[in-house]
Amino acid sequence: MNRQAARARAPGKLILAGEHAVVYGHPALAIAVDRGTTVTLRRSRGPTRLGRCAVRDPRLLPGLLTVLPEDGLEVDIDSDLPVGRGMGSSAALAVAVVRAHAALQDEVLDFATTHARAFGPERHFHGDPSGVDHAVSALGGGVRYMRTPTGPRIAPVSLPQLELVVVDSGSAGNTAQLVAGVRARRRQVAPILDRIGLLVEELTGSLGRGASRTEIGGLLTENHRLLCDIGVSTPTLDAIVDACLAAGAHGAKLAGAGGGGVVLALVSDAAPVLAAVAAAGWPAFRVGVAPVEG
Ligand code: MEV
Repeated sequence: MNRQAARARAPGKLILAGEHAVVYGHPALAIAVDRGTTVTLRRSRGPTRLGRCAVRDPRLLPGLLTVLPEDGLEVDIDSDLPVGRGMGSSAALAVAVVRAHAALQDEVLDFATTHARAFGPERHFHGDPSGVDHAVSALGGGVRYMRTPTGPRIAPVSLPQLELVVVDSGSAGNTAQLVAGVRARRRQVAPILDRIGLLVEELTGSLGRGASRTEIGGLLTENHRLLCDIGVSTPTLDAIVDACLAAGAHGAKLAGAGGGGVVLALVSDAAPVLAAVAAAGWPAFRVGVAPVEG
């Protein structure tokens, strides 16, 4: 049966470690978060068009048309993810639209097909993304992701209870430009990318054996310093990391492409960190891990 309307939702993400290095074949560790994007598709006459949507970005409709037909649909988008902040708003949109379109046609999608299709919008928005963002959005939970010449290697990772605070720097980063900037500096930053790859392995081990929050947090903060060294942090992101650590966070780092966006902090007690960053004028909120899909 072909339905008249269909709706699907997908979560956003946070990268615990490994952003940028993952573009060059190193592993990354990411979590799906308890915020996300819902796409509703309705059959309608004429060209496919946007309906209800809080974000007016000229790239939006062409991105959606990489997976939707040119004609016959109206697309509503509802999201509680901040846009351009490293929380996977485009990946959640890509996965949700792929799922909604499949649902409209009563098509059952497996993970591999969802992931392959959602590369369409993701490439439109970000150039040559590694695919980690929409892999974790499609899988939920914790995910280890590695890009290889024969395709992505993706594995679920079971996580201990993580108390996380997200702090919004108030400005957006441009993922395509930031990735291109690192690519231009690749020869100089290669040893740092190698170290980030090793750090992801250490973090995976630490999470797996239930290491202390101090140890896990230390790795997150080291990852932030390495991201500074490859040139994707900003003075504001560094100041937020320092404010979180001074307020008792076990570790903190920029999350995503950088250049703006959010900082994630691992805490035992969220209240003093939330209060400290609020006093400095940065909005912040607690975030949980979205459940594994299926
Ligand atoms: C962006 O969320 C993560 C990056 O590593 C880019 C990518 O993996 O495509 C910066």
